Amino acid sequence: MTEIEKKLDAIKVVPVIAISDASKAAKLAEVLIENGLPCAEVTFRTEQAAQAIRNMRDAFPDMLIGAGTVLNKEQVDAAIEAGVDFVVSPGFNPTTVKYCQEKGMAIVPGVNNPSLVEQAMEMGLKTLKFFPAEASGGVAMLKAMSAVYPVKFMPTGGVSPKNVKDYLAVSSVIACGGTWMVPNNLIDEARWDELAVLVREVAGIIA
Ligand code: 3PG
Repeated sequence: MTEIEKKLDAIKVVPVIAISDASKAAKLAEVLIENGLPCAEVTFRTEQAAQAIRNMRDAFPDMLIGAGTVLNKEQVDAAIEAGVDFVVSPGFNPTTVKYCQEKGMAIVPGVNNPSLVEQAMEMGLKTLKFFPAEASGGVAMLKAMSAVYPVKFMPTGGVSPKNVKDYLAVSSVIACGGTWMVPNNLIDEARWDELAVLVREVAGIIA
C-alpha cells in the first residue's frame, strides 16, 4: 500500500465536504481532527473548494486532505496547488487519471462495474471509489466485484450510519466516504458542537 492508502485504511471513514465559505474550513478541520476523523475530501462542487483546502492545510499541515468531484485537468492543478494529498473523481476519466499520474498525484477514480474496474487496473490503479455505492448495488455488488479483482474500494454515495459497518466488513474496502457527518447546514451555520457529535458517532462506530 502507498502512504496515502495506509492512511485511508487507518482512518476508515472519509468526510465528504461541500463548503461554501472557505473561512470556515480551518474550524471544520479542527472539529474533525479533535473528534476522531483527521481527514477531509473537499469537493470541487463549490467555488471555495481550493481556498478551503488551502486554509485546512495551513492550519493542519499533517491532516489527510483530498479533493473530491475533480472532473478535469484544471481542477487537478487547482487541487495540487492548494496542497492536497489525493484526488477523487466520481467517474473513471482516463484523461484526469493520466494527468494525475503525470503529476505524481494519487487519484481514486469512481467505478461501479467490472469494465470500469478493468480499465482502471490497466492504468495501474489499485484503489478505486465505488460510486454511487448504494444505487449501484451496495454491499452485494461490492462483494461480487471484490471476488474477482485484486483492488481496494472506497464506497461512497448512500453510505450512512446504518450500513457503514456492513461496507467496512468487506475485506476489499479500504475506507468509506460520506457526507452524513458533515451536513452543509451545520457548516454554513457554524453549528460546531452538533457537528462534533456526528463526527464522534462515526468514530464510535468504527472504533
Ligand atoms: C460524493 O460526493 O462522493 C457523494 O455525493 C457523497 O454521497 P453521500 O452524500 O450519499 O454520502
